[in-house]
Amino acid sequence: MSPSADSLDFRLDSPDVKNDPYPLLHRLREEDPVHYVEHMDCWLITRYKDIYELYTDPRLTADRRKGYNYQQPPEGSFFRWVDDHGLMALDKKTHSLQRRLIGSGLTPSGVRNIEGKVRDVVDHFAKPLHGRTGVVDIMKEYTTPIPIVVVGHITGVTAPGVDDTQFSELAQAVIRGFFGLVSQEVLLRSEKNYEQLSKWVKDTIAARREKPENDLISYLIDANEGGFSLDDEGIVAQVSSMLAAGTETTSSGGVTCLSTLLDHPDQLERVRADRSLIPQTVNEVLRYAFGGVGGTQRFPLEDFEYKGRKFKKGQLVMLSGGGASHDPEVYENPEAFDIDRNPQGILTFGLGPHYCLGANLARCELANIVDAAMDFLPPGAKVLHDQIEVEELGMFDRQTNCPVDFGGGA
Ligand code: HEM
Repeated sequence: MSPSADSLDFRLDSPDVKNDPYPLLHRLREEDPVHYVEHMDCWLITRYKDIYELYTDPRLTADRRKGYNYQQPPEGSFFRWVDDHGLMALDKKTHSLQRRLIGSGLTPSGVRNIEGKVRDVVDHFAKPLHGRTGVVDIMKEYTTPIPIVVVGHITGVTAPGVDDTQFSELAQAVIRGFFGLVSQEVLLRSEKNYEQLSKWVKDTIAARREKPENDLISYLIDANEGGFSLDDEGIVAQVSSMLAAGTETTSSGGVTCLSTLLDHPDQLERVRADRSLIPQTVNEVLRYAFGGVGGTQRFPLEDFEYKGRKFKKGQLVMLSGGGASHDPEVYENPEAFDIDRNPQGILTFGLGPHYCLGANLARCELANIVDAAMDFLPPGAKVLHDQIEVEELGMFDRQTNCPVDFGGGA
């Protein structure tokens, strides 16, 4: 059901809401900013300042095992490991030690050191697109493989120059299971692929024990932070979680950057002519096009009242990404895409203790994806929106292609 004029009765999975969440988000922000969504038994928070506040509220946790509707994955499964030992499940101290351990190469200076590697991967996938005509799927050929190969190289599971195709396919199949609220069938398929991925990573660990390289796996084998270290199972799961967290997000970020620019050709041409505009353009895409109606999930550790509404212990609280990034109190005329805006304080990478560990790497990848694309996207290229396909993964849809007419075709 879509929102009617006089009631705020809607379903988050209705096509109207998925296709254009912003009219609903504006109504919610004005009329009921802390809204109870009955069909999901959850709270939807839509004002920037409330989302900002709740991200750092110690009465809420990111640990989904604390949700009263939590369904425990089967014993021994990868998803059970992630729920019990992943970054969202750790106590404060272990969490910060583990972040330091796995995030050591993702600091601003760490990312500057690997920018050359990132650029090589981007150029590898950009090269075959130069001079192309007709319809090109820029998602399949360009933005999807890049983040998978980058994370593969950083972690060490694939090496530059080695064919990454098989690894990319495997990683993508595992990643499906990480989508919020996916069906059991998707989870099972993902779990099966994880078994293969896990063997791959274990073989890499064995090889690195023999001969260390300059990659995360070699580092993690001996690394110790304040007495905390990872065993082989931990390395496998952590590397796989990194793949999950750092690939789908950046792949859809890349395609979103390009399709948003293609839909705003005047601004695309300004970026093409002046590449120093790229960082602020990426920043604006992260604000303008990255937030759906839903968002980050949190769970109250106790019953408490927030803005006059009663949160129950374990009840899902969703911090709406689109709610925050299109809040007119913070971003004037939020529905306009404007590369001169250079928005500050965007919450697209979260906030607080779980702030995205890969944000620096993601920005670096997106900037290079846009830069290289400016050299192969012909003037006048158009996204064929009516040919875009989506895969339904439970609550949320996932775009699976991005056909672009490069012109000059038969
Ligand atoms: C455009 C791309 C990306 C977006 C929009 C994004 C978004 C986010 C958000 C919103 C969170 C916070 C989740 C929460 O608080 O519950 C997060 C956490 C995280 N992200 Fe990203 N991410 C991106 C790319 C990456 C990359 C490239 C990596 C690593 C290679 C990565 C690794 C992580 C990790 C490990 C966490 C968990 C941090 C923790 O719990 O302490 N992300 N990301």
